[in-house]
Amino acid sequence: MSGSNTNMTSKEYFALEDKYGCRNYAPVPVVLCRGEGVFVWDKEGKRYYDFLSGYSSVNQGHCHPRIVAALKKQADKLTLVSRAFYTDQLGVYEKMMTELFGFDRLLPMNTGVEGGESAIKFARKWGYEVKKIPEGKAKIIFAEGNFWGRTLAAVSSSADPTCYEGFGPFMPGFKLVPFNDIAALEKELKDPNTAGYMMEPIQGEAGTVIPDDGYLRKVRELCTKYNVLWIADEVQTGLGRTGKMLAVDHEGVKPDILILGKALSGGMMPVSCIMANNNVMDVIKPGTHGSTYGGNPLACAVAIEAIKVLLEEKMTENAAKLGEVLVKELKRIPKNKVTAVRCRGLMAAIDVHDSISAYEVCLRLRDAGMLTKQTHGQTIRLAPPLVITEEQIKECVDTLCRVFDSFGKDSTPLPRSG
Ligand SMILES: Cc1ncc(COP(=O)(O)O)c(C=O)c1O
Repeated sequence: MSGSNTNMTSKEYFALEDKYGCRNYAPVPVVLCRGEGVFVWDKEGKRYYDFLSGYSSVNQGHCHPRIVAALKKQADKLTLVSRAFYTDQLGVYEKMMTELFGFDRLLPMNTGVEGGESAIKFARKWGYEVKKIPEGKAKIIFAEGNFWGRTLAAVSSSADPTCYEGFGPFMPGFKLVPFNDIAALEKELKDPNTAGYMMEPIQGEAGTVIPDDGYLRKVRELCTKYNVLWIADEVQTGLGRTGKMLAVDHEGVKPDILILGKALSGGMMPVSCIMANNNVMDVIKPGTHGSTYGGNPLACAVAIEAIKVLLEEKMTENAAKLGEVLVKELKRIPKNKVTAVRCRGLMAAIDVHDSISAYEVCLRLRDAGMLTKQTHGQTIRLAPPLVITEEQIKECVDTLCRVFDSFGKDSTPLPRSG
């Protein structure tokens, strides 16, 4: 049996995945085999700007040498013992994170969706033990347009039929409210059985949907008023992406439960966590929640270095500064090609005019040396690693303009596809 064969072409790799893999993704046709900083390379040696960053996991840039070194060093020493024993990494990591984000305690998990699952479990248990909600009646509110993964709880809270259709029966006790609608939220918060409101401060998968200024402050105020836990899913928005360490920092507010993931390992491995104060964390007793890999020493060593790199190399500051450049530069794209642009820090999205296929835009961008992927049909996300420079942003917007200009210049009908 052979593993990677360096003589194989991209076409042959497409064929392998197409034949042997579950078809749960429809990747942009490009086979990547190397990454460094803002760049990735394909099998044929062509270089691309990565404007997806593993859905904002690679904020620190691909294969950051310091994070790679931390990973190798710890891999040589100890990788996993499970939580049956203490390690010399977990407590150090928990102390650093809770001091940095201002919470009493941290629960380590692996994927972002496990972070969300944990937050909901904790909110339900808090609802019964602290808020005294009658057993089995706890309600969790979500915002329409949310995306937090693919587990049954996550799809049960989704408003997107592609996510939930055919996967029922669904989790009971979930309720959806429109995002950015305070009146609708308050109505649900008033229900004494409501335990939590879980939301992304900026909706990522929905296409960088930014709520009105003041929305997050109002959410904080109302959750406090009605004694409901506010759960902020910052798996995608957190860790510098929006130009602040957390997206909630834009309004100077703090959730009761914070979920982080993705860039917590700088793209090395699945590392997520939730943080909260003792009033919430204390409802969890030994044996009531856990994960074999959660908090493993390899993950902790990687996450410690990933956070240090983010802070010491001032990546959040870079995202804030270059976000302003990006938003200004994106105005150069002709108005008849793009119907809306949304941007906060280096988390941006453009809505492509209906006459143009967003998928075809991604293919032409690929050909021009820039990788990204459309979401919800006509929206293209722009989320480069936070180490990108001003010159590189300008070069990439030049590329975007050239690609958009190419539409309408040829007479071939444009394919419409997802
Ligand atoms: C906001 C948000 N939360 C949670 C998740 C789930 O993360 P994971 O894919 O690591 O489970 C995602 C994934 O895209 C996300 O965007």
